[in-house]
Amino acid sequence: MTQNYRITLLPGDGIGPEIMEVAQKVLTIVGKKFDLQFEFQQALIGGAAIDATGEPLPAASLDMCRNSDAVLLAAIGGYKWDSLPSHLRPEAGLLGLRAGLGLFANLRPAKILPQLIDASTLKREVVEGVDIMVVRELTGGIYFGKPKGIFTTETGEKRGVNTMAYTESEIERIGRVAFEAARKRQGKLCSVDKANVLEVSQLWRDRITHLSQEFPDVELSHMYVDNAAMQLLRNPKQFDTIVTGNLFGDILSDAAAMLTGSIGMLPSASLGESNPGVFEPVHGSAPDIAGQDKANPLAQVLSAAMMLRYALNQQNAADYIEKGVLQVLHRGDRTGDIMSKGMNLLGCRAMGEALIQSLEE
Ligand code: IPM
Ligand code: MG
Repeated sequence: MTQNYRITLLPGDGIGPEIMEVAQKVLTIVGKKFDLQFEFQQALIGGAAIDATGEPLPAASLDMCRNSDAVLLAAIGGYKWDSLPSHLRPEAGLLGLRAGLGLFANLRPAKILPQLIDASTLKREVVEGVDIMVVRELTGGIYFGKPKGIFTTETGEKRGVNTMAYTESEIERIGRVAFEAARKRQGKLCSVDKANVLEVSQLWRDRITHLSQEFPDVELSHMYVDNAAMQLLRNPKQFDTIVTGNLFGDILSDAAAMLTGSIGMLPSASLGESNPGVFEPVHGSAPDIAGQDKANPLAQVLSAAMMLRYALNQQNAADYIEKGVLQVLHRGDRTGDIMSKGMNLLGCRAMGEALIQSLEE
């Protein structure tokens, strides 16, 4: 029987529309193979939404996302909107989407593909075999804590304020997601914090430690965030699953991504309790190469695979896309960001065509 899914596409800004086009085509092809019918609906977010409506996340877009089985997002932001006040910037649209859908858990896998080891800036022996899952808390911490803003002090000086805050329940619910994820992987969880300085981290460490009693099969360790940044570069293979707060997760997931050679290869999933999940590449909108047919569409395509796996429970279709990606890389097809000597340099569209051809074979 054909399965029907309503998917909201949010192409956003910069290279977003180019890479989304490839992912949409891939989904359609794979849908035919696995008897899945996708009804795509498109909505505005980020700079594109600001230009059209004056707001980075129009209510109609959030409603459309709520009324779908899953959301596939490309990327937002660009120089054009950089000088707007923070609540009107494209980034506010993304944060509004995360908050509006209650997407508190962000899963960012960083797995090195054997075909791309030479694209990593680190030595082969350091990165070979790296397979890390960063579980980042996404709707709390310093991104959302109050008070926040730029205030004027009694002496007339301006003072910028953000607040890093976590409640016990916020820590425990992301902790649960991370322990469950570790359980399905190598059974090792490293919780990253700054408990030597920050009270919010002391509570974080305490609650994660307490929670570990429910997961005796998972080996828990703790690490300070500065050390974690260093260890990711020194010996990334010591990590299996990492759980951390919003800001530390933002930073460490970029570092983990780069171990794999290109941030252009990595997908992510943002999940909540009941609303549809949002699936998006870890990379940004790359305004410097937008519209030039140079972008790597593979992280977007792999985000679509993650959507099939986590939101729609279509493991076979997800596997099929992931295998297709490995196949084109194996053949030597590369976009500029992952190019190395002797490989075929392709643009975004040609990479999409190469992938579709291999999926149709
Ligand atoms: C990310 C991005 C976002 C974040 C920005 C664009 C708001 O860097 O998804 O990692 O900081 O969370
Ligand atoms: Mg980031």
